[in-house]
Amino acid sequence: MKFTKRQKVIAASAAGVLVVGIGGFGAWQWSQTSTSAAAYEQADGELRTVNGERNRAAAELNKAREGALAAHTAAMQLSGAADPALLESPAARDDLIVATEALAKAAALQVNEVGALALPAAETANRVASTAAPEGREAQLAGAKKLEATATSLKSEAATLTKQNEAIKKAVAATEKSEQQLIASAHTKGAATEVPELASQETKDAFAAAVAALQKPAKNADLVALLRAYQDASAGMVASTEVAARNQDPASIEPTYINGILIANKTYPLPSWWGDGLTGETVAAFDAMQAEAAGQGHSLYISSGFRSYASQASIYNSLVAQVGVAGADRDTARPGHSEHQTGLTVDLNCICEGFGYQADGQWVAANAHRFGFIVRYPQGKEPVTGYIWEPWHLRYLGVENATAVYNSGLSLEEYLGITSSYN
Ligand code: DAL
Ligand code: ZN
Repeated sequence: MKFTKRQKVIAASAAGVLVVGIGGFGAWQWSQTSTSAAAYEQADGELRTVNGERNRAAAELNKAREGALAAHTAAMQLSGAADPALLESPAARDDLIVATEALAKAAALQVNEVGALALPAAETANRVASTAAPEGREAQLAGAKKLEATATSLKSEAATLTKQNEAIKKAVAATEKSEQQLIASAHTKGAATEVPELASQETKDAFAAAVAALQKPAKNADLVALLRAYQDASAGMVASTEVAARNQDPASIEPTYINGILIANKTYPLPSWWGDGLTGETVAAFDAMQAEAAGQGHSLYISSGFRSYASQASIYNSLVAQVGVAGADRDTARPGHSEHQTGLTVDLNCICEGFGYQADGQWVAANAHRFGFIVRYPQGKEPVTGYIWEPWHLRYLGVENATAVYNSGLSLEEYLGITSSYN
């Protein structure tokens, strides 16, 4: 077969085009495959980065939870050790308890089977192993998509862990702040405490030192130990006051104030010259209470207010004549020991136990503290107060102290940690 030159050229060109065409398709195909492999590898790299972030967040969360458990334990000890009566604001203790509860919640602390708080299960680290790209474009693209989806879910997991971590840190900071406030509240109360004159110098010095130590505790100070030292020093001072009060010469008796509250009970007498009528504050507080009670249909009136040493002597002696010393001592005070001599006490209405069951008396029991009074001899407290239940006998303490005593559910003796008994 013979070809013309022209035919030869055409044939050669066609073959060339064919060769180029086949080669080009191969290059195109190769480039598509390498793009999908790169996409797969990129997705794989991204996944490992995100996985690292997630693992770091999980590790941090575990650490934060450990810190939270330690902070929680410390706060519980402090609130457990705090005596509300020795705080400027008893609410400081409640605030700390609330902060501690919030901390336990933020850190998801759980009570374990032995009743102790435990850390939740650790957020174990995710391990994503690197995998080689599968064969083939389709498989690579599908694989990359899968890896991206996993990365997205890990990313949101990391964000959640980080958020939990931040919430725990905030809760720990709030708890620590609350602890500082409780200590500050103890310091304020201690600094404002009227130190009983009768207390020994040694106990006064110890108290002053313990109060000073509360002023600016170092960051790592043992707050429970500081608080306990302050409370113990206060109790030591009160105990020393009691000893001195019992040994006083009746002619030179000094009135006793504990935590700023004038005390008249079986342990602490008043001097015979003390008192000249109800104080202005007591009268004003009674008037306000009487007015509010009247608005709610209750009738309150004072049946016995101020009683001098001499009038108490006559009341006591006549009761002794009727029922004997033991019986009289359960009902009325010996001269010098009656709260009526303080000018801060009123007996209401019938001066009878029935008052405690009447609507008027029940209103008084529930509301007197708002006006600064406490029911001084509560039911069932004779062993501590030294007197039978007297729902009619109110003692003025001022609204703050009366409310604190009322909320404590304690008698004044228990609230202050003092006794009431004759020598
Ligand atoms: N009835 C109370 C105790 C008093 O005599 O003061
Ligand atoms: Zn009374």
